[in-house]
Amino acid sequence: MQKFQIKTQIHSGHNSINYLKTIDARKACIVTDKLMIQLGMVDKVTNVLETNNIEYKVFDEVEPNPSLETVTRGLHHIVETKPDLLIAIGGGSAIDAAKAIMFFCIKTKEELVDKEAVKKPCFVAIPTTSGTGSEVTAYSVITDKKKNAKIPISEEIMVPDVAILDAEFTKTVPPFVTADTGMDVLTHSIEALVSKEASEYTDMFAQKSIELVFRYLIRAYKDGNDMTAREKMHDASCMAGIAFTNAGLGITHSLAHSIGAEYGLSHGRANAILLPYVIEYNSGIENNNDDNLKADERYRFVSRLLGLPSNTVEEGVMALIEAVRTMNKMLNIPVTLKETGIDRDEFEKNLDKITKRAIKDICTMSNPKKVNSDDLKNILKRAYCGLQF
Ligand SMILES: [Fe+2]
Repeated sequence: MQKFQIKTQIHSGHNSINYLKTIDARKACIVTDKLMIQLGMVDKVTNVLETNNIEYKVFDEVEPNPSLETVTRGLHHIVETKPDLLIAIGGGSAIDAAKAIMFFCIKTKEELVDKEAVKKPCFVAIPTTSGTGSEVTAYSVITDKKKNAKIPISEEIMVPDVAILDAEFTKTVPPFVTADTGMDVLTHSIEALVSKEASEYTDMFAQKSIELVFRYLIRAYKDGNDMTAREKMHDASCMAGIAFTNAGLGITHSLAHSIGAEYGLSHGRANAILLPYVIEYNSGIENNNDDNLKADERYRFVSRLLGLPSNTVEEGVMALIEAVRTMNKMLNIPVTLKETGIDRDEFEKNLDKITKRAIKDICTMSNPKKVNSDDLKNILKRAYCGLQF
């Protein structure tokens, strides 16, 4: 039995921020970071709220990799303000922080506000990058700085009620971030498509997202003012989010999470570099292992979708790998981990730690092919120096 769910109401396209002119609310709490205020993104939202006579308070303390302390402060802000509208404006971090605030608000309201329970506010997410798909997912990651640990939370109450996909909010994203986050989108959709939990429903969103990324990412990278490309990438990001929140991901993400924690490499960039090597591994090219749930045929299917050569399964797989590599090159993303500046000795010394963490990562469970530590080490070694299977 499979379950597919979309809870979020999606408003997309030019001026979709104007949806807030019609929303029925009296008091809003905005969760964001200081950069969003500097860039005028928060003003774009508060101007609309004012026309709808909605009061607002801004909590702008979210930092990259939001901490438990920030979430706690945000929670107190909500308890004091008692908003009926919670608006997250930003990339993954602001939306993740708002999700965690929402989680703790509902889970701990009894102790915090005694009998004056906080009613669950309507939760609106306004993403300002096209990458995480966080506006439609149930996941959030908070950092416990004292224990130096990441706390992943996944709860249905954290899924935003409304997502506003207004590309105007992505216009100022610099090209390298457009590239990295765009490749994260592609990794979400390709991993969701070959996941063990994939269904006809998740496939539909993953396929469309892949098509949009291949058609519009380079355009958005080359010209940040190309609003058609920006809009399409925003849609692709959301569609990929819908696909992977239902189907799960795979070991590209497990390894990217682990490498990112070790070397501070951006999430999207780590995914972009690793993806071709993981496709090689999952398709069984290197050892002809049958245990791949036909991942090779799924990759060939993607190649067909993109009009790439795919007369045989192997040709289709190789064409997809080459297409991802070409995309990386056009986006000035390195082809190997070595090119990112990671020291070889350091890398070899940390291989055990990186793979152990990746094996335990939740994304490993839905990978189409089973993996052990040696498999992951092999993938990483190849990705380090660019060896192909
Ligand atoms: Fe991702």
